[in-house]
Amino acid sequence: MNSPRIEVMADGGLFHIQGSSSSLTIANYHGLPLRLWWGSRFTPSAEALAEIRSDPPPYSVCDDPDDTSWSSARLHLDYAPPLAGDRKAPAFIATSTKASIISPRISGWRTYEGRPTLAGLPFARAEASEVRTLELTLSDPEAGLELALSYTVFEDSDIIAHNVTYRNKGDSIIRLSRASSFAFDFAPRHSMELVDLEGTWARERMARRSALTPGKKLIGSNLGVSSHRFSPVCALLPATTTEASGEAWGASLEWSGDWQFSFELDEFDCLRWSGGPGAEGFSWELGPGDTFICPEALLGWSEGGLSGLSDQFHEFLSRRITPPRWRGKARPILVNTWEASYFDFDAQGLDDIARQAARLGAELFVLDDGWFSRRNDATSSLGDWWPNEAKLGGSLEDLARRVDGLGLGLGIWIEPEMVSPNSDLFRAHPDWCLVAPGAPRHRGREQLVLDLGRPEVREEIKGRVRALLSSARFAYVKWDFNRPLGLPGSTLLPPERQGEASYRFTLGAYDLFKSITSTFPDILFEGCAGGGGRMDYGTLSYFPQYWASDDTDAVARWAIQGGAGLFFPPCVIGSHVSAVPNHQTGRSLGMMPRLAAALGGILGFELDLALLEAADFALAAEACNWYKDWRSLLQFGRRVRLPTAAEGDRSGRSPFADDAAWMSVDEASGRAVVVWSRLRATANPGSAFLRLRCLEKEATYMISIPPFVRGPGSSTLARKSGAGTRSLSGAELMRRGLEILPGTGDATAIVFELQRV
Ligand code: GLA
Repeated sequence: MNSPRIEVMADGGLFHIQGSSSSLTIANYHGLPLRLWWGSRFTPSAEALAEIRSDPPPYSVCDDPDDTSWSSARLHLDYAPPLAGDRKAPAFIATSTKASIISPRISGWRTYEGRPTLAGLPFARAEASEVRTLELTLSDPEAGLELALSYTVFEDSDIIAHNVTYRNKGDSIIRLSRASSFAFDFAPRHSMELVDLEGTWARERMARRSALTPGKKLIGSNLGVSSHRFSPVCALLPATTTEASGEAWGASLEWSGDWQFSFELDEFDCLRWSGGPGAEGFSWELGPGDTFICPEALLGWSEGGLSGLSDQFHEFLSRRITPPRWRGKARPILVNTWEASYFDFDAQGLDDIARQAARLGAELFVLDDGWFSRRNDATSSLGDWWPNEAKLGGSLEDLARRVDGLGLGLGIWIEPEMVSPNSDLFRAHPDWCLVAPGAPRHRGREQLVLDLGRPEVREEIKGRVRALLSSARFAYVKWDFNRPLGLPGSTLLPPERQGEASYRFTLGAYDLFKSITSTFPDILFEGCAGGGGRMDYGTLSYFPQYWASDDTDAVARWAIQGGAGLFFPPCVIGSHVSAVPNHQTGRSLGMMPRLAAALGGILGFELDLALLEAADFALAAEACNWYKDWRSLLQFGRRVRLPTAAEGDRSGRSPFADDAAWMSVDEASGRAVVVWSRLRATANPGSAFLRLRCLEKEATYMISIPPFVRGPGSSTLARKSGAGTRSLSGAELMRRGLEILPGTGDATAIVFELQRV
């Protein structure tokens, strides 16, 4: 156990925050917090303070009117306030009727065992004894603004939770137009690169690595949700860092609304990195005595390359973010009705799917959209959460009983934050949607968003959802959110405060999530927002898993899940085998490649199982059987991306350019599963050598191929790759690698089991 420590030096001039192998050093310099160091562990000396270079560069301004010997233009600031010398983007912008610029200075500090709790917001869970916190207070007494910046360090981790709270201690109104969750400068380092996850609907989380050049780069979302477009996570690394070695820094916001990350590289190669809630148009009014709490930012460091950073965030998310009740608890195999029948089903059809699901070996039957009120397409009924018993052939309780008789749990789809204009809810409360007074109601997917900032709206929705979830025995809920906010506004707010509406909506959503998930702690909730449009550490604090994308095509899923895997462990990623031709891409693949892709997350199925050919059904059933034996490793083991031979090939001609692979390892039991796929077939292929990782060099591993690995391409693969069992040493598997002789066909895939002997 590595206990967290915070050392205070030079009478509060220097703070050394110690992660399990990292150091973060903050100095108090003329009342400004400086970030002297964040990286591998070393104890700073108090003399470091005297070394800080602050002479004003040519053509700069000094911050202290009475002392022209220094300027913040040279400093590496932490949470920079607006300053005369430093003219990069400040961490926050606040004004009041008394002051057009508010620029507080450090007025106090404390360290304590424990961490701050954030009212109304998700935050990393920890026992007081597992964490220590440094809190700096910054004040501007004239304007009445006080800021608490806190840095919480956790045992056995190099992740730091950064928190910021604003308090109006004066008697005038303060307006915030920016309030970052974190902001700090990197002292000059060689060329830094950014890894972010960009995308859109059905193409979420495409990992991209790009160089940061002088100037400013912004990524974020102004859609009112964390979005498909970018995810509120990213990594920064020197150009020399690879998958498995070198330093990497990462950040994740525990926030599901509008957000922004900014990267500003200046003329001295100093990089300012900030992130927090809000997009253009955000504002917040702090009346006397009011408090504004920023969403928590998790900041991580590793010197084990991108992999090391992923390990940190995976471990942290599983241990401290997702609901404790679901920690390490096997996620069931589900069969979902959406791509099987969309809105068009009847009782007979549902019973058929459930029967097939039971035969397959699934554990949950999930009734997706279309089961309630007059909902037979996307144009009506959201908000009217009562079953269409004529369509269902009885009550939900009847269905639960039938499904239970087959040995399956029942799951159901809901989208509680929305209302259809064609619904009884809307007809009764047309003013409950999220638009400013008098503004047009812009529809998306024929629906409007409810104003969850209003307590009476939340209470009504809580009541409806509670009644629904109490009406039958549900084991699972898919909680959807199918449009962005558009131009949000609220009848609760005066015209000059409409910039708060989007933020207040997300706070209201968290209140709803918390209330419903805590009322039904035994129900497994899976988040969804038109696929992965709100998959972030905020929603995952309430929902232990997430539907990663509406794209169920296996080739697309390797990329989507691969990108998500940088920050999200497999136990939170929902992944289903679907029909061919695939409904999103039109691609037709065999059962084996579809299964291999779905094994990358929590295995499920979303197709009319009755239409599967007998051989495919049998293969899928065998895979389900196998999965149950291996799922604790697949869902909760250490997930390692395996660089394929294409890594480092800049010619673009490599036949391995379309290979993808990962492994799940449990170091304690010595078990591992390896999954490899060639996404695009090559004629006349040579061997691929798949170098494994994280094995014991000296140990011997028994390698076998599970019996379900068959079908076009995969059978050849299995035969050529050594059907039966063989043994190789860890060193051999990691150095020479597993030799794979690719078969023909797109997305041919193979699965290996490894057992240390
Ligand atoms: C969204 C989800 C789908 C499905 C539909 C139902 O698009 O991402 O999986 O649930 O809604 O309308």
